[in-house]
Amino acid sequence: MSYETVLFDRDGDIGIIRFNRPKALNAINVEMLGDLNGVLDEVEADGTFRVLVLTGEGDKAFVAGADISHMVNLGSLEARRFSRQGHRLMDRFEALAIPVIACVNGFALGGGTEIAMACDFIYASEGARFGQPEINLGIIPGFGGTQRLSRLVGKNMAKELCMTGGIITAMEAERIGLVNRVFPADRLWEETMKTAVVICSKGRVSVRTVKRCIDRGLDTDLASGCYMESEGFAVVFASHDAKEGMSAFLEKRKPQFKGNLA
Ligand code: CAA
Repeated sequence: MSYETVLFDRDGDIGIIRFNRPKALNAINVEMLGDLNGVLDEVEADGTFRVLVLTGEGDKAFVAGADISHMVNLGSLEARRFSRQGHRLMDRFEALAIPVIACVNGFALGGGTEIAMACDFIYASEGARFGQPEINLGIIPGFGGTQRLSRLVGKNMAKELCMTGGIITAMEAERIGLVNRVFPADRLWEETMKTAVVICSKGRVSVRTVKRCIDRGLDTDLASGCYMESEGFAVVFASHDAKEGMSAFLEKRKPQFKGNLA
């Protein structure tokens, strides 16, 4: 299917979403929220994707935030609805059974940082910029910024960023634990795809179980998280890939993962 505000392609088992409103620095409007939901419907219905990569079209922005020309006309109830629509979309990325990598190639501000944080991890170009500048507009983050940022970088750093609206470099974002790795712009895509391919080569059941255990485990106490991990450990032992992976090690050969339960 084709969409107005995003491009959706596949490269082998990797799905690629490009935010495609470069003239507005890929700002998120209601149409883009709808299009992204449409892509996620496709990914879920297809069932053969192994990794999803998000990036921005053009060389300037990943996503420069929610579309301010849309938000300026919202009343309070409409603003809540817009925020809830954003949250539902972020939750869908987070709940997806496959890993999602944010490949941040420019500005990721406001809703842009929020989408990136809903991904499993972030790679960025040296020129990328992050921040929650909503306070400069007299508003606050609405797509999860106050919540995911504080969980990722700690509450004090999150407060400073959200209260000052300060914009930080990719290197600073890496230092505070928001970004996993930073690359020169001309290597970002290649490095992101290299990591996506590595993940594609692992067992599908174990990759999915790692994602679930870490995400759901962080929402609970350590004992419940460890219990969840044991349940996940039991599930992966029911997969073909567990037998294959351990047998391959003992037989000194490369494993052939199939991604299904035995
Ligand atoms: N919404 C709508 N349009 C946007 C936009 C946004 N978030 N960000 C940029 N644009 C538009 C600009 O209006 C401009 O359009 P025109 O060419 O029609 O004038 C075009 O994109 C290019 O932008 P600039 O001319 O401003 O480019 P610049 O290089 O001078 O500055 C920038 C780049 C620093 C990213 C600047 O555009 C900027 O500050 N953008 C807004 C960032 C922001 O505040 N984001 C948070 C939005 S609120 C939010 O996201 C709430 C939430 O949590 C859900």
